[in-house]
Amino acid sequence: MPANKKLLVLPGDGIGPEVMYQVRRLIDWSDKRRRVTFDVQEDVVGGAAIDAHGVPLTDAALDKAKNADAVLFGAVGGPKWDVLEFKVRPERGLLKLRKEMDLFANLRPAMVFEALADASSLKREVVAGLDIMILRELTGGIYFGEPRGITTLADGTRRGVNTQVYTDREIQRIAHVGFELARKRQKRVTSVEKSNVMESGILWREEVQKVHDQHYRDVELAHMYADNCAMQLVRNPKQFDVIVTDNLFGDLLSDAAAMLTGSLGMLPSASLGPADASGRRRALYEPVHGSAPDIAGKGVANPIACVLSYAMALRYSFDAGEDADLVEAAVKRVLDGGLRTADIMQPGKAQVGTKVMGDAILRELDKLAA
Ligand code: IPM
Ligand code: MG
Repeated sequence: MPANKKLLVLPGDGIGPEVMYQVRRLIDWSDKRRRVTFDVQEDVVGGAAIDAHGVPLTDAALDKAKNADAVLFGAVGGPKWDVLEFKVRPERGLLKLRKEMDLFANLRPAMVFEALADASSLKREVVAGLDIMILRELTGGIYFGEPRGITTLADGTRRGVNTQVYTDREIQRIAHVGFELARKRQKRVTSVEKSNVMESGILWREEVQKVHDQHYRDVELAHMYADNCAMQLVRNPKQFDVIVTDNLFGDLLSDAAAMLTGSLGMLPSASLGPADASGRRRALYEPVHGSAPDIAGKGVANPIACVLSYAMALRYSFDAGEDADLVEAAVKRVLDGGLRTADIMQPGKAQVGTKVMGDAILRELDKLAA
């Protein structure tokens, strides 16, 4: 039997703890199956860490994250902490984890489950069968660029500055991940930037093209402006296979892609660092939906994005693709069976809360593994 894997669970704020609790039950399920077993640690992050320690991420929690084989992250933020100064807001905890762990590659798959094709705000024929991967650069660009800040000029004018900046190496390393992903899919990459107005966009396009020409001629590469990509995502999303883009465009486009799938409550993500000599990568898995303070504590949140994020952890960090398949198949069966949380509710289906959805996924897992 392989040694236990180190897993750090950071439930965070809002609906984070509720959806993560359902994943804890899945971790216990995996443990019992004994194909991958875990040493699970838990810590606070975001607003919960501010309340307990005065900072959104303690050094101790960051150390644990760096030493873990994978981090499972819930969500951070809420109105309670919005009054705080920018530098100590809950979101800074997440951004610090991304930066300090060098999690530059953010995989955001958007897949439409057949049972939910009518839950999308777009027509069934536009989204049915959709399976695209948005690959977002996560540690560069305008999120971290310097200079940044708000200053007051001599004449009293207030000025806010952020800087979009990418180096050739940052672009090359994310491009490699994109082409590698495409090779395991439909072998098509769309690289997205605004090279019609931004120099960083020109560099992005040139470097992605170079990486392609040198290493991945078997993969089809297209370039697209970000505004056009947003339009194409709602017009004809199935034209895409892998979209590779920067930090800010990836943030926007992945939210748009999420809605194609019916709900933000369905979208998982993986954030990966560079591979070390043994091939191991630091990794953090996180539902895309955020803390949803309006429904927090009510037991109605959709746990599926968090559950699917755990499946991604099984696949990308623990080499347990078969178990990941099982988790995904269990989710599919529950949806086929007609259970829905409020965010994906449709006429004639049964509306359930977070826990009942978790129960149902576990039940299907037991059946699938029997
Ligand atoms: C996301 C979120 C974060 C981001 C926030 C919470 C900082 O919107 O992961 O997409 O902007 O990256
Ligand atoms: Mg976002």
